[in-house]
Amino acid sequence: MSSPHRPSYSHTALTHKRTARVGIFLIVAGVALYALYGHALRTAILSVENPFGSPYTDDIPAPDVDWNSRAEQVKGSFKHAYHGYEKHAAPADELKPISKSKHNPFNGWGVTIFDSLDTMHLMGLKDEFQRALTVVEDATFAMPTSENLYAPYFETVIRYLGGLLAAYALSGERILLTKADELAELLEPAFNTSSGLPHFGINTSTGNVTSTIDVGLAEVASLQLEYSYLAKVTGKRKWAQRSQKVIKTLYDADVDLTGGMLPTRWNISSGRPIGADISVGGQADSAHEYLLKHHLLTADTDKESLELYLRATTHILTRLLYVSPKRHLLYATNTRRPSRTLNDWPTHDFEHLSCFLPGLLALGAHSLPLDNLQSRLRNLPENHDYGRAREGYTMLGQQNQSLKEMHMTAAEGLAMTCWLSYADQPTGLGPEIMRMVSLVNSKTQAALWIDAMAKWKWSGKRGSPPGTGAKRPTLSRQDQDYIVWRPEYLLRPETIESFYIMWKVTGDARWRQRGWLIYQAIERETRTDAGYAILQSVAVKNSLKDEMPSFFLAETLKYLYLLFREDDVLPLDKWVMNTEGHPFPVFTPDL
Ligand SMILES: *[C@@H]1O[C@H](CO)[C@@H](O)[C@H](O)[C@H]1NC(C)=O
Ligand SMILES: *[C@@H]1O[C@H](CO)[C@@H](O)[C@H](O)[C@H]1NC(C)=O
Ligand SMILES: *[C@@H]1O[C@H](CO)[C@@H](O)[C@H](O)[C@H]1NC(C)=O
Ligand SMILES: *[C@@H]1O[C@H](CO)[C@@H](O)[C@H](O)[C@H]1NC(C)=O
Ligand SMILES: *[C@@H]1O[C@H](CO)[C@@H](O)[C@H](O)[C@H]1NC(C)=O
Repeated sequence: MSSPHRPSYSHTALTHKRTARVGIFLIVAGVALYALYGHALRTAILSVENPFGSPYTDDIPAPDVDWNSRAEQVKGSFKHAYHGYEKHAAPADELKPISKSKHNPFNGWGVTIFDSLDTMHLMGLKDEFQRALTVVEDATFAMPTSENLYAPYFETVIRYLGGLLAAYALSGERILLTKADELAELLEPAFNTSSGLPHFGINTSTGNVTSTIDVGLAEVASLQLEYSYLAKVTGKRKWAQRSQKVIKTLYDADVDLTGGMLPTRWNISSGRPIGADISVGGQADSAHEYLLKHHLLTADTDKESLELYLRATTHILTRLLYVSPKRHLLYATNTRRPSRTLNDWPTHDFEHLSCFLPGLLALGAHSLPLDNLQSRLRNLPENHDYGRAREGYTMLGQQNQSLKEMHMTAAEGLAMTCWLSYADQPTGLGPEIMRMVSLVNSKTQAALWIDAMAKWKWSGKRGSPPGTGAKRPTLSRQDQDYIVWRPEYLLRPETIESFYIMWKVTGDARWRQRGWLIYQAIERETRTDAGYAILQSVAVKNSLKDEMPSFFLAETLKYLYLLFREDDVLPLDKWVMNTEGHPFPVFTPDL
């Protein structure tokens, strides 16, 4: 275990001084060594970058690849999955792809249909789209009477409402908008809270809500895109107000303990955080995502969310990013704060869910004037009161590097780790959670990325920035620098989603090729007669489990399709994806 980390500003300064003295010694020693063992030393330095010999080239696409035909293959996969669902499961929620049966984990309203609408439209699957519309027309969004359950607010919004709205945006079919508005009305009881943060679940038939007060960040703060866009297209002010109230509650909350970043648990009565645990993955992910995306969707008008995004990413860049000891894998940890202490304990877990982060950072670096924020912000970050956030800004300022570059470097390193989490496995598919090795022995320990960056710069920027650069996949557990902690592969989209944005933003075709390698693994390892099945373990061939989540059609296959298509169907400056991969067009709010 590494020690808990909560550097104060003065502690950081001290570290820098010590680094300077050690550095002078290293230069002197280095010159001497280089004279004696120049060749060996060069080899040793190279071997850190690439410890496995010959350069890795599997992820460089051949010059004559026909990408559009690869996109067509993905469309074929989508048809296989959707037709299997239609045949064996519709209009239930999801297909069980092995037993060819169905189940209803999301209210039983046919979630796979709603989640697939816009993907079908993008792929030009007109017949399937028309068949789906007839189901949408008949939807009543009533709770099944046989079951004692509530519609989970968050999942219902991102899948059903998001799916309807994006399909409306793409097709202009009125019925989609009518149904979106109807659904939002049925979800209204969720907002019977003084904070404006929604309840966890609603019985849409009775209007009863769940009694839980302690709710996850993602569950209460991933509705701004859907509600603001719904307000725009219906002209109803109340939808915009739902979104604005959530933003205001987040913006006004005291989050000094977590450096200005939003913690994971919230009290929906008081609108205040509970505890100071932080996650970039499960329970939090999409809330961080919506800070940037709501700013972008509303044509840069929402300044509060932008400021929250800058605080969150500053905290991530300065305190949550680590570089693993041997292989120099960049990863984002979650942190725990036991009550009555002031120390954050990094878990050194890196979740598949957290693999949306490289894409988000790249999208922000691409879209925001990160080095000229005065033009965007009402309150400059420097002027804000959050003590620990200010420490973070100071630490970033000391890097003497453009903020845009810092964000892009982090994005690249993180996306590389997400890629290796797939490429390192016998199945070629990535696990749900990696537990990163933080300690090799008492001397080699995972380093905070911000410290590694400072050292790298100080020593003359040799090689790639820490955590980036060429790395070779390896099947050897000993060499991997992590343990597969939760081994299942759930057909999740986050890694592909980030590759898609990395490709759009950098133009580096290796991201496309890596996506292609993952697509081939999906075909090889998860395809069944009726659809595609999740894996119980990325290390075990044929460890299929009888589930095909709707996000596989909404996101994983959509992002693969968009990654390979040669034309830019959804330009990043004109469309913003919700957290379920549903695109909404950028607009200027007038409500
Ligand atoms: C929700 O409402 C339906 C219809 O009235 C009812 O059958 C079901 O039991 C209710 N569920 C809960 C959790 O109250
Ligand atoms: C809102 O909640 C309060 C108490 O929490 C309850 O008394 C009231 O009936 C609720 N209103 C609606 C419209 O559900
Ligand atoms: C749900 O609502 C009905 C009527 O609206 C009410 O009679 C019932 O007690 C409520 N159930 C719960 C569990 O709150
Ligand atoms: C939530 O906040 C309310 C009002 O401040 C408080 O009474 C309640 O105990 C809190 N609940 C939890 C679970 O923190
Ligand atoms: C910091 O950046 C400025 C301008 O880019 C440059 O002139 C200066 O030498 C840099 N300082 C260090 C310590 O790298």
